[in-house]
Amino acid sequence: MCGITGYIGFRDAYPIIINGLKRLEYRGYDSAGLILYDGDTIKMSKTKGKVSDLEKQVEKEISKGGNIGFGHTRWATHGVPNDVNSHPHFSESENLAIVHNGIIENYDTIKKELINRGYTFKSDTDTEVLINLIEEVKKQENVKLGKAVQIALSEVVGAYAITVFDKTKPNEFVVARLGSPIAIGIGTNNKEFFIASDASPFIEYTKNCVYLEDGEMAIIKIGRAIRVRKIQDDSLVDYSVLQLKLNLEQIEKGGYDHFMLKEIYEQPKAITDTFRGRMLVNKGLIRMAGVDDNIQKFLNAKRIIIVACGTSWHAGLVAEYLFEDIARIPVEVEYGSEFRYRNPIINEDDIVIAISQSGETADTLAAIKMAKSKDAFVFGVCNVVGSSIAREAHAGAYTHAGPEIGVASTKAFTTQITLLSLIALKLGLANGNISKTNYHTYLREMELIPKKVESLLAINDKVKYIANIYKDATNFLYLGRGFNFPVALEGALKLKEISYIHAEGYPAAEMKHGPIALIDENMPIVVIATRKGHYEKVVSNIQEIKARNGKIIAIVTQGDTTVKEIADHVIEVPETIEAFTPLLTTIPLQLLSYHIAVMLDRNVDQPRNLAKAVTVE
Ligand code: F6R
Repeated sequence: MCGITGYIGFRDAYPIIINGLKRLEYRGYDSAGLILYDGDTIKMSKTKGKVSDLEKQVEKEISKGGNIGFGHTRWATHGVPNDVNSHPHFSESENLAIVHNGIIENYDTIKKELINRGYTFKSDTDTEVLINLIEEVKKQENVKLGKAVQIALSEVVGAYAITVFDKTKPNEFVVARLGSPIAIGIGTNNKEFFIASDASPFIEYTKNCVYLEDGEMAIIKIGRAIRVRKIQDDSLVDYSVLQLKLNLEQIEKGGYDHFMLKEIYEQPKAITDTFRGRMLVNKGLIRMAGVDDNIQKFLNAKRIIIVACGTSWHAGLVAEYLFEDIARIPVEVEYGSEFRYRNPIINEDDIVIAISQSGETADTLAAIKMAKSKDAFVFGVCNVVGSSIAREAHAGAYTHAGPEIGVASTKAFTTQITLLSLIALKLGLANGNISKTNYHTYLREMELIPKKVESLLAINDKVKYIANIYKDATNFLYLGRGFNFPVALEGALKLKEISYIHAEGYPAAEMKHGPIALIDENMPIVVIATRKGHYEKVVSNIQEIKARNGKIIAIVTQGDTTVKEIADHVIEVPETIEAFTPLLTTIPLQLLSYHIAVMLDRNVDQPRNLAKAVTVE
């Protein structure tokens, strides 16, 4: 969590940093701060609140000149969000400044030692401890900043992406990473450099980018090629410079009020981009290098273990239904956080699939590292290219959903399901569990999904109308069965996280084992009752709700008449194969949560307490 961005070169650093922080605000937004170096002094401004609050404060507090500086947008770990705990942090002498994303777990022990040596601390953060440790090492060992950072980092336990500046050697930054991402943008002839948690802050300036790997640090000096070293043994790393494909338009709102709405509307294109070039319908082929190159491993797999968190975990649950139904391979779906600490039984012929939009989720990353240590083959399904999980996995496939900036995941979910459907179909055909005819039917239907999602988006106004009726409810229940049980969980999560209304998702049949007690005339219940998939049984559940005066919002297949007669509201989705219904039924649930949150005046793209990439445990 937290966003870091910095600039060192010949341009005015301030606009680059402040705009960069706005683009990174999805990573954390409880406080923000920056430093600027004008060739003489380091000016610092920081505040509790958003980047826009920082912008106002800078106007009042400091001059904006300087070609060097860095900034931070925070998601608090150690120390409450307040002005003092905001980053950057100075060292005791105020010669060194740091921004940090991550957690230093042994900060308390180090802090006590530093206090014994006369250091004082202004904040409650682990970061201030780290910068003072670097200062102390620099002094004691009489070494340059790079060496001091390297020695200090070998003493800390935890995760970090850091950028450090030393006023006494002002033409360089030292950056390092372990567990949190850092990208370095390289300007022409090394005359300028950009630092950021992802490449979005600098894409209009350079497409040349180096992503540091875990355990690496870089010395960035104006006029010289960057030097990357391993923190552990100081050895030089032969890094590669990537060409970014990201463009500015992709990370702007493009006329929508919120990124979330834009991303909901982008789903037809995002789904198409996921299967483009992979699904060749006329040839009856699914090509996916990560699977093709390892096809024997997939076919010999006795079990697939899916690890993920949050929405990606829900996509994993849909994949469980897909793999078991289409390819007849047993699947277990695990929360990264539970799996990694559970001492799970992992066999050599297990395949672990890690699903993650950001590719940076700490628990998912740790889970796959653990699986690798037990010799499992790990396949990554990520959206962010070059992300840690994508690089840690033995093989994988990108969803190609494009940048997802709204904190609530939307297009990431549907594209993950699309990609996992292709894998299930490929394996199902290869291991003979679906007939060629069925396989072709699936492929042809998948090709139609983007158009169906597009037509479905026309329900927006109707969903808005329904949202207005139920926006003041304090609880919601979401019910679904089979492939749509995970969709019920996802619908409830979307509502909770952006509107702060309590919501629960349940398999519809479980309702009578508990949640039914909650139902009264004040309880809106969203029921997914598409024609395929236990339809009659879900209709019975709807009757049971009706009998208890619950308010029913039903997601039904176009042309449905039965549910229409019982439900208070129906939202129709186009007909499709049962396995693909989640790709459609999810859309109205995303819109419902979106509209309720807007009506309640919530911060839709940056809901409280959340961050887009959860890089801490
Ligand atoms: C929900 C949401 C989170 C993420 C979860 C995993 O809308 O965004 O629940 O799904 O933090 O993130 P990734 O997919 O980046 O691993």
